[in-house]
Amino acid sequence: MNPTYDFSGRTAFVTGAARGMGLATATGFAESGAAVAMVDRDPKELQAAVEKLTDAGYKALAITCDVTDEDQIKQAVERTVAEFGSLDMAFNNAGIQADATELADISLDDFDQMQSINLRGVFACMKYQLIQMRKQGSGAIVNNSSLGGFVGVPGRATYHAAKHGVHGLIKTAGLDYAAQGIRVNGVAPGIIDTPMVSDMKNAEEGVIEDMMRDVPIKRLGQAEEVAAAALWLCSDAASFVVGHVIAVDGGYVAR
Ligand SMILES: NC(=O)c1ccc[n+]([C@@H]2O[C@H](COP(=O)([O-])OP(=O)(O)OC[C@H]3O[C@@H](n4cnc5c(N)ncnc54)[C@H](O)[C@@H]3O)[C@@H](O)[C@H]2O)c1
Repeated sequence: MNPTYDFSGRTAFVTGAARGMGLATATGFAESGAAVAMVDRDPKELQAAVEKLTDAGYKALAITCDVTDEDQIKQAVERTVAEFGSLDMAFNNAGIQADATELADISLDDFDQMQSINLRGVFACMKYQLIQMRKQGSGAIVNNSSLGGFVGVPGRATYHAAKHGVHGLIKTAGLDYAAQGIRVNGVAPGIIDTPMVSDMKNAEEGVIEDMMRDVPIKRLGQAEEVAAAALWLCSDAASFVVGHVIAVDGGYVAR
């Protein structure tokens, strides 16, 4: 259950919206009255997610788009604005994880693939969102980073490099646009109970149990707990918050 805000008359754009934290955040935007462009590369799962919201009477639009493709992102932003009239809030969340591998054994192709989604994809989405928001003179962007944007974890070089890069984008874009009515911030989830974590559990035995030893709150986070922080950062309640990344991690990076 998300806290609700009054986002009526505003448009949100969420990537990776078919499941996990993207879906929870898109749902929170919709429940708060926003029209939501739900963007994902998986058309089937996306359609099912969007129908659940539209059947419940909310305004949501499915846009199939791979965030590694600049043209698809440009078109997704343009379609959102054509359909709903503006782009006021964005949650750049689409991302992948990779199996743990020590750096010397990671191929450059695997490095590039990770960056193309988790870093370049975020950059490209921000670029086209900001072109629109700059015209409007208003907007709020929240990027979904990770505890991996603050610290290293053995075997996770490509993912953590990408997430550290996302923090760089948040800080610099926060500065670029602060005086133009556009706020850019981020959330950094800890270990959250989503399909991504289920996939990690299946692929790498014991990996989540190992990581859980470092979680002070001693439980997995829920997607809605991350959505709550993203919604707050997009709301007028966070009107003086710029270039900041909030850890939503049960205390992981506070250690
Ligand atoms: N689950 C966690 O514990 C955790 C922790 C920290 C950060 N994160 C980050 O949060 C974000 C969401 O994670 P989640 O756990 O909800 O993941 P998830 O795997 O459950 O969902 C991710 C969604 O992104 C979509 N996606 C992946 N690549 C895409 C692409 N190239 N173009 C468009 N859509 C694409 C997938 O189809 C999927 O619907 C990711 O950026 C992830 O790195 C997750």
